Order: sequence, then structure tokens, then C-alpha cells
Amino acid sequence: MKNNNTSKVLIAFSLVLFLIAVFTVSLYAAPKEKKAAATKEKKAELKAWDCAGCHKDKKVLSDNHVATKDMPYEGCLVCHIPGEGNAGTLKAKIPGSHLHALKGVKCEQCHGKVKKPEPVEMSKCIACHGATAKLAEKTAKIKPHNPHTSPHYGTELDCNLCHHQHTKSENYCAQCHKFNYIVP
Ligand code: HEC
Ligand code: HEC
Ligand code: HEC
Ligand code: HEC
Ligand code: HEC
Ligand code: HEC
Repeated sequence: MKNNNTSKVLIAFSLVLFLIAVFTVSLYAAPKEKKAAATKEKKAELKAWDCAGCHKDKKVLSDNHVATKDMPYEGCLVCHIPGEGNAGTLKAKIPGSHLHALKGVKCEQCHGKVKKPEPVEMSKCIACHGATAKLAEKTAKIKPHNPHTSPHYGTELDCNLCHHQHTKSENYCAQCHKFNYIVP
């Protein structure tokens, strides 16, 4: 009885070894076309801080910028903090979707699980960021005027008019006022 079990274990063990060997060989011997097909799927899994992984043809960071490939958001914050001589905050330097991705918010959390993403309603933003009145309280001290409330629109101006997710954000009030906001 005991012997029988031992041989079963041995068989199972060599099977596992065999599978590992096959897997390893196929990994290194994978034909080029197969790899290319996999690239598209891989892109979706790229880490938010692997800029070059997505931006292959376009330079998004200067040549002398430190390598970001293996650097999570906390690493960026070593240099990207407000204050003289620092790199400044990342607000307004990258699209909102990138800021969200760096902080672990995935596409689906705004767009839902869909094949073709649609524009996202403001109600989605509020679901995470809280009621507009509360938000306005948070930024009450911003000079020269609270961006989250105004005599024209109250607190109900659409977030997406300032906080763009897929291009750099915009200072909507600056069309008419000289408010020097830095919009994240
Ligand atoms: C060692 C310091 C340092 C670290 C760490 C760092 N940066 Fe920077 N970053 C800078 C400096 C300095 C600049 C401004 C000069 C330049 O463009 O290279 C900058 C500029 C930028 C810009 C603006 C580029 C432009 O063309 O306007 C972006 C975007 C950026 N960094 C993103 C990041 C991200 C994202 C991370 C983390 C994954 C990061 N940085 C980590 C120092 C750093
Ligand atoms: C914080 C919420 C948010 C996140 C996260 C986000 N998006 Fe979006 N997305 C929006 C909003 C808002 C719009 C509409 C306005 C715009 O284009 O900026 C949009 C528009 C789009 C559109 C265009 C839809 C159309 O028909 O105009 C696509 C495609 C898209 N997003 C894909 C993505 C992908 C892929 C990701 C993940 C990398 C992502 N989004 C992450 C909020 C988000
Ligand atoms: C699934 C939850 C979620 C949704 C939906 C969401 N956000 Fe966020 N957002 C976050 C988190 C988490 C952060 C990071 C908060 C932090 O670290 O302070 C963030 C950060 C931000 C920031 C601040 C970035 C900074 O660094 O100062 C802005 C602006 C923002 N979101 C706007 C929006 C807008 C506009 C929408 C709707 C298009 C939206 N968010 C939808 C979770 C969400
Ligand atoms: C008129 C442009 C404008 C609109 C519209 C707008 N914001 Fe903002 N928002 C700003 C600016 C500017 C800041 C940066 C304030 C600062 O300097 O810290 C900001 C900051 C934020 C922050 C970071 C707040 C913090 O904790 O410091 C969040 C989160 C945010 N906005 C979410 C939203 C959401 C959600 C909406 C829609 C309900 C919205 N914003 C509408 C301009 C706008
Ligand atoms: C998962 C893929 C992906 C990663 C990773 C990524 N980006 Fe992007 N980036 C995009 C796409 C797609 C766009 C086009 C706008 C959009 O959909 O957000 C874009 C747009 C931009 C833009 C805006 C260009 C404009 O028109 O204003 C900047 C700047 C940028 N990325 C910088 C960065 C930096 C810096 C990093 C690394 C911290 C990075 N990206 C990482 C996919 C990516
Ligand atoms: C289309 C142009 C336009 C836009 C966009 C606009 N304003 Fe105004 N705003 C005006 C005009 C014109 C006045 C002066 C007449 C009046 O009081 O209604 C004014 C007056 C004001 C006032 C009262 C007078 C003052 O300067 O103290 C405040 C506060 C204000 N705007 C805030 C904002 C904020 C915050 C935004 C962005 C969310 C914004 N406005 C966007 C045109 C605009």
C-alpha cells in the first residue's frame, strides 16, 4: 500500500518536471508571429509607469529623465513634489487616466466591462469622489477662486470640462478669467 503511494507520487512528480520542461522550451522557442500576436494583449497589462511600453514611437519623457519602467507611483513622488528645485507635481503633466492608472484605478472602473468604451458621465466621478458640494469644500482655499464653485455654474460644472482623462487637462475658467489653476 505504502509502496504504491510512493510510486504514484514519483509519477506525478516526473509529470510535473516534464510539463515545466515543455513550457520552458516553448517559451524560448516561441515563433516571432506568435509573439507579435501576444503584444496587443500584453499592452493592456502594461504597468502604468512603463511609459515606453505604450509610447513606442513618441517621446513622452525627456532623454535625461530617470527610467520609469519599474517605478511605481511612490517612486515618482521622490522628485515630483511641489517646491523650489523639485520636479513639481505630476498634475497637469499627464492625462487624468494616467494619474488614475498610477494610483491603481483601472479602465473598467470608469468605463465598465465593455468592448468599446463610451464617454463617462460625471455621475461616475461623483460616485468615487463624493458630492460636488463636499468637493467644493475641499478646495475652498484655492486662490484666486475656488475652481469647484462659481456664480455661473454653482458646483455643477461638468468635471470633464477641466479634468480630461485622455488628453492633458484644461483650465476652463481661463477662457474668461486670469485664474492660474494647475488642473490635475
Ligand atoms: C529622480 C527624479 C525623478 C523621478 C524619480 C521621476 N521624475 Fe519625472 N521628472 C523629473 C524632472 C527633473 C523633470 C523635469 C525635466 C524633464 O523633463 O526631464 C521630470 C518631468 C516629468 C514629466 C514631464 C515631461 C514633459 O515633457 O513635460 C513627466 C510626465 C514625468 N516626469 C513623469 C514621471 C513619472 C510618471 C515618474 C514615476 C513613474 C517620474 N516622472 C519619476 C524627475 C523625476
Ligand atoms: C477616471 C475615469 C476614466 C478612466 C480611468 C479611463 N477613462 Fe476612458 N474616458 C473617460 C472619460 C470621461 C471619457 C470621455 C471624455 C474624454 O475622452 O476624455 C473617456 C473616453 C474614452 C474613450 C473614447 C470614447 C468615445 O467614444 O469618445 C475611450 C476609447 C476610452 N476612454 C478608453 C479608456 C481606456 C482604454 C482606459 C484605461 C487605460 C480608460 N479609458 C480609462 C474616463 C476614464
Ligand atoms: C473607481 C473610483 C474612481 C472613479 C470612478 C474616478 N476616480 Fe478620480 N481618483 C480616484 C482615486 C483613487 C484617485 C487618487 C486619490 C488620491 O490619491 O488622492 C483619484 C484622483 C483623481 C484626481 C486627483 C489627481 C491628483 O493627483 O490630484 C482627479 C482630479 C480625479 N480623480 C478626477 C476624476 C474624474 C473627473 C472622474 C470622472 C471622469 C474620476 N476622477 C473618476 C478614484 C476614482
Ligand atoms: C473649472 C475646472 C474644474 C472643474 C469643472 C472641476 N475641477 Fe476638480 N479641480 C480643479 C482644479 C484647478 C483643481 C486643483 C486644485 C489645487 O490646486 O489643488 C482640482 C482638484 C480636484 C481634485 C483634488 C482635490 C484635492 O483633494 O485637493 C479632485 C478629486 C477633483 N478636482 C475632482 C473633480 C470632480 C469629481 C469634478 C466634477 C464633479 C471636478 N473636479 C470639476 C478644477 C476643476
Ligand atoms: C497602457 C498604455 C500607456 C501607458 C503605460 C502610458 N501611456 Fe501615455 N498615453 C496612452 C494613450 C493611449 C494616450 C492617448 C490619450 C489617452 O487615451 O489617454 C496617452 C497619452 C499621453 C500623453 C498626452 C499627450 C497629449 O496629447 O497631451 C502624455 C503626456 C503621456 N501619455 C505620457 C505618459 C507617461 C509619462 C507615461 C509613463 C508614466 C505614460 N504616458 C504611460 C497610453 C499609455
Ligand atoms: C464665458 C466666460 C466665463 C467663464 C468660462 C467663466 N466666467 Fe466667471 N465671470 C465671467 C464674467 C463676464 C464675469 C463678470 C460679470 C458677472 O459678474 O457676472 C464673471 C464673474 C465671475 C465671478 C465674480 C466676480 C469676480 O471676479 O470675483 C467669479 C467668482 C467667477 N466669475 C468665477 C468663475 C469660475 C470659478 C469659473 C470657472 C469654473 C468661471 N468664472 C468661468 C465670465 C466667465
